[in-house]
Amino acid sequence: MQVFVTRKIPQPGLDLLQKEFTIEINPSDRVLTKEEIIKGMKGKDGLLCLLTDPIDKEVITAEPNLKMIASYAVGYDNIDIATATKQGIPVSNTPGVLTETTAELAWALLFSVTRRIVEADTFIRAGKFKGWAPMLMLGQDVSHKTLGIIGTGRIGTAFALKSKGFQMNILYTDEQHNLQLERELGATKVSLQKLLKESDFVSIHVPLTKATHHLIDEKELHLMKKTAILLNTARGPIINETALIKALSERWIFGAGLDVYEKEPKIPKELTCLENVVLQPHTGSGTIETRTKMALIAAENMIIGLKGGIPPNCVNTEVFQKKPTG
Ligand code: DGY
Repeated sequence: MQVFVTRKIPQPGLDLLQKEFTIEINPSDRVLTKEEIIKGMKGKDGLLCLLTDPIDKEVITAEPNLKMIASYAVGYDNIDIATATKQGIPVSNTPGVLTETTAELAWALLFSVTRRIVEADTFIRAGKFKGWAPMLMLGQDVSHKTLGIIGTGRIGTAFALKSKGFQMNILYTDEQHNLQLERELGATKVSLQKLLKESDFVSIHVPLTKATHHLIDEKELHLMKKTAILLNTARGPIINETALIKALSERWIFGAGLDVYEKEPKIPKELTCLENVVLQPHTGSGTIETRTKMALIAAENMIIGLKGGIPPNCVNTEVFQKKPTG
């Protein structure tokens, strides 16, 4: 069988795939266009794609031979799951292995903004440091503050649990009660409005869906404290970026830490000019260990799927209700 890989991923995953199948990898280290993906998929049985690839109806239906899509990401909002399901094609993702890594980045962003780390580093490199001063680069404490978590799935829960050393008051929103957080941290489930009004730091951990698109808009930003910090390591379009730029430049809130953007990789110039935002290039899962595990998981799912089994991280298991497993 043959697999098309849309961009080079860590070698252990490619080695695993190569033991079983003939693989073709995009030779250039860049995002392919839709047309290039379709061309690369020609005659292939499997597609290993990334979160930057638009895997829509046109792509999914382009190759009649296609039997399996393994995505090298946990989020799969870039894939038309309904079409894949209709075509009987299982789609897998890479959950679990990037949970702690992404939660760690959210904490890194929180400290970067509270203690103005990037701004301070730039200040020193510009030769502006003239010695200790009582009012120099004052930031904010983290300990004993209120942490608001929007969405307590795997990553939101891991992010909350890492607050243990800082004795924080935890508020969260979710459809269900998160009993682990309530038991271990005394966390309280509240409405989004209450969370925004009362939290010192707000961190987003929901997937991008129709319901979460622009979940944080002007109205929500206005509810936040003037001293509040907003973190987003989930997906860019959950925040209305134009409203956020306004909120940051007019100081409705203290700052923001972002790993994701509304029109990635395009980032508005106004955002890059602001001092009270720390910008990270979508590296939530970006450690050597985690990216290697993601490559292995994507390869394992592809192997099982192409051999007719149910991939362990299949996100559309409905396809197997119609199709007998091998
Ligand atoms: C994912 O896998 O969905 C993350 O956004 C990667 O950082």
